[in-house]
Amino acid sequence: MIDFTNLPLRKKGYDGANGSKLSIVYSDNLYMLKFPLRNLKNPNLSYTNSCLSEYLGCHIFNMLGINAQETLLGIYKYHGKVRNVVACKDFTSSNTSFIDFASVKNQIIDSASNGYGTEIKDILDTFEEQNVVDPNKLRDHLWNMFVVDAFIGNPDRDNGNWGFLYNQEKDEMKIASIFDCGSALFPQIDDDFIEKIISSKAEMNARVYDVPTSAILFNGKRGNYFKIITSLEYEDCNKAIKRIVPKINLDQINLLIDEVELASDLQKVFLKKILKMRKEIILDSALAKLS
Ligand SMILES: Nc1ncnc2c1ncn2[C@@H]1O[C@H](COP(=O)(O)OP(=O)(O)OP(=O)(O)O)[C@@H](O)[C@H]1O
Ligand SMILES: [Mg+2]
Repeated sequence: MIDFTNLPLRKKGYDGANGSKLSIVYSDNLYMLKFPLRNLKNPNLSYTNSCLSEYLGCHIFNMLGINAQETLLGIYKYHGKVRNVVACKDFTSSNTSFIDFASVKNQIIDSASNGYGTEIKDILDTFEEQNVVDPNKLRDHLWNMFVVDAFIGNPDRDNGNWGFLYNQEKDEMKIASIFDCGSALFPQIDDDFIEKIISSKAEMNARVYDVPTSAILFNGKRGNYFKIITSLEYEDCNKAIKRIVPKINLDQINLLIDEVELASDLQKVFLKKILKMRKEIILDSALAKLS
């Protein structure tokens, strides 16, 4: 694991509610160093495992051919304590800045909801009404994210958590790399809790069939990934299933998990098991129905 403690700091700041962030220079590149959030819900785990989730989530997107930010796991020493951190390579440049989807949605005058509204119909309507990115690319991208977020159990893909790189010289907008997978893969769960749930079929099933739900709303309610995907109701979602699911290689993902120093052995067993279940129950069954 890399020690990021004494690297040069830059003045750039990053927003977001899930933990502190610094900008640092590592190997001549700018990185956003993301610290885990204090865990107020679970007294056994003082900080969430969000760094591990960020790292694994982004790597899984990349393995499936969907461009995600480069991430590295490491430590940062602060006030005599060692913190786990994830370094996310900054994907902006001197002439490109990040613009979230909420800001593009805000360009729609008299939209049914504001930029942060995540009702699926409003999102899809925005794709047709906006004039900054090819709507076909947007639809593919949204459903790619939806399918992979379903796989990794991400409850947080709101309109601020994906977006575009805007080139101010060329006045050009391109889809940005995936970032913020920090809430995926059950980051609040500690070893004691895993012990309790891993041998219970009901507890494991609940984490496939019921939770987490999607930040995207379907008829006013957060989406149940299992129900939405296996309903085959959204044609572009079905296309994304056909594109992505055959590329999921659980052996390769298991190797990635095994190589992480930060995770306990029990955490690794849990992550491998829940990903296998989510793939089989949500994604493989949808693909089987489609073929
Ligand atoms: N790799 C990156 N390069 C440049 N900017 C980034 C990168 N990743 C994230 N950002 C910017 O930093 C912000 C915060 O990052 P991120 O979304 O990961 O934090 P968070 O605290 O988990 O957010 P949230 O409040 O959604 O949980 C993003 O909204 C985006 O504007
Ligand atoms: Mg975010």
